Amino acid sequence: MPSLGVNIDHVATIRQARRTNEPDPVWAAAMAELGGCDQITVHLREDRRHIQDRDLRLLKETVKVRLNLECACVAEMISIACQLKPTQVCLVPERREEVTTEGGLNVAGNLDLVTDCVKQLQQAGIKVSLFVDPDRLQLDAAEVTGAEIVELHTGAYAHAWMTSAQATRWQHIVDGVAYARQLGLTVDAGHGLTYTNVEPIAKISELHELNIGHSIISRAIFSGLTEAVREMKAILNRCSVAS
Ligand code: PXP
Repeated sequence: MPSLGVNIDHVATIRQARRTNEPDPVWAAAMAELGGCDQITVHLREDRRHIQDRDLRLLKETVKVRLNLECACVAEMISIACQLKPTQVCLVPERREEVTTEGGLNVAGNLDLVTDCVKQLQQAGIKVSLFVDPDRLQLDAAEVTGAEIVELHTGAYAHAWMTSAQATRWQHIVDGVAYARQLGLTVDAGHGLTYTNVEPIAKISELHELNIGHSIISRAIFSGLTEAVREMKAILNRCSVAS
């Protein structure tokens, strides 16, 4: 079964709504770990709209599972990542006006820049993942950069849930996973996955990890984060038993 990375950015989003000190994403990471997550994921945005530099420092000290830092291919972020040394960095596209990460990284169109970022991170001993659409052009380019992992963007699949496009979008992910595996890449997936739509994705063999944020944090408001993570892990577990 794919392992579970929990994205805790939205805990920081609530804190930043008041620019106070609660709720603390560092507490959230501990609760998510108690629920059985395999990785904590945070996105340090250039505009610091949710996760702050202080969060990163404390998470690095306290997180006991893998720590995955999402960031853009810009010098400031690569420098922060190289100093912090999380387990993994996932390079993502970033636009200030977007509500969330829209679309995958255009690796093919920015090959030199992405390759340079990958090299700097790897030299600092950090594994690198590239967040890309399930598209052969991007996967070929990802392989050229030397990154060892790709995270396939499942947003288009999630948006197509319960529409006539659902099966086609799911097939794009299946094909993307198979193609990336042929290239020798480890394959993760994420974005827009929920308790309702995750099963068909979790059943795709050879998927290493799913990164899920909004849906888990939303449920946590009502059931608590440890329980919300436990429930998502139970779904993933069921998928592996069924497949
Ligand atoms: N993976 C990546 C690379 C992301 O940027 C995000 C959103 O921050 C996620 C996964 C999680 O998406 P969601 O919050 O929709 O579950």
